[in-house]
Amino acid sequence: MAFNLKGRNLLTLKDYTKEEIDYLLTLASDLKSKKRAGIKGNILEGKNIALIFEKPSTRTRCAFAVAAKDEGAMPEYLGKSDIQLGKKETVADTARVLGRMFDGIEFRGYAHQTVEILGEFAGVPVWNGLTDLYHPTQILADFLTLKENFGKLEETNLVYTGDGRNNMANSLMVGSAIMGVNYTIVAPKSLWPEKELVEECRILAESSGAEITLTADPVKGVKGADAIYTDVWVSMGEEEHFSERIEQLTPYQVNMEMIKNTENPDVIFLHCLPAYHNTETENGEKILKEYGLKEMEVTDKVFESKYSKVFDQAENRMHTIKSVMTATL
Ligand code: CP
Ligand code: NVA
Repeated sequence: MAFNLKGRNLLTLKDYTKEEIDYLLTLASDLKSKKRAGIKGNILEGKNIALIFEKPSTRTRCAFAVAAKDEGAMPEYLGKSDIQLGKKETVADTARVLGRMFDGIEFRGYAHQTVEILGEFAGVPVWNGLTDLYHPTQILADFLTLKENFGKLEETNLVYTGDGRNNMANSLMVGSAIMGVNYTIVAPKSLWPEKELVEECRILAESSGAEITLTADPVKGVKGADAIYTDVWVSMGEEEHFSERIEQLTPYQVNMEMIKNTENPDVIFLHCLPAYHNTETENGEKILKEYGLKEMEVTDKVFESKYSKVFDQAENRMHTIKSVMTATL
């Protein structure tokens, strides 16, 4: 069934119903098949898309840019120091100006409130490309990857281990609650999500049947997982917390022992990326050597194993973002 999502913002998945998310995932899958078959699209012909980035990005930026170009739109990258957003003029003023020129606006940054103000004042669809609180477009890619692997979302067991209170843990919980995915956060209590959000998600889960579980036990918590998901231990903007996070999260690293503890030979490993799984990057070398580590949230062995679907996930960012843009424009 087709849904009319024209003109809608995507600030968090809470704004969408299960049926609407299902529709976006089916559309993404169709767009993926078309791209693979070399069929050129023109759904966004003549549209102009603003891409605002306060924080760096590889996947999200490229996914928006390629998806826009594939369908005939013109993407314009606006970096932190390129525009006045909240500096010489208010976010609401920038929103109203961009809304007069562009047909859609993506925003990645710090305060979630910024994307809310953009969404309120732009008058054109605004999409959240990551804030400190939520990363909804990532979840669409993750759920498309789950569907590709398991043929369904309902009743699959998704276990997130690591920083249980960041944008990824929050958004996966919201998405799982809506879609009927059983979601477990395996993290030390000090890194569990806000109580209010957990309660909100448990209410959402009443209609979908999803179970939302929080546990600090990294052995029992992963048992029966269909997918193990992790993210960086220190999100963008929280760099001063490296040493305490390493101390808190070392028992929650995704390694082969954790994979074995799932007792599921068909378990898959997911990560939104970027990942610290070796010392082969400039930052990796600096940070990991400083703390005497070889890898952080996931071992190289798991990252490079047959369980790992991280590059399918990364590719799916583009197809799902294309789905969001074409549906809301
Ligand atoms: N997963 C993700 O959002 O990646 P980027 O930070 O590269 O956009
Ligand atoms: N939690 C991470 C996600 C990166 C895609 C961050 O905010 O840095």
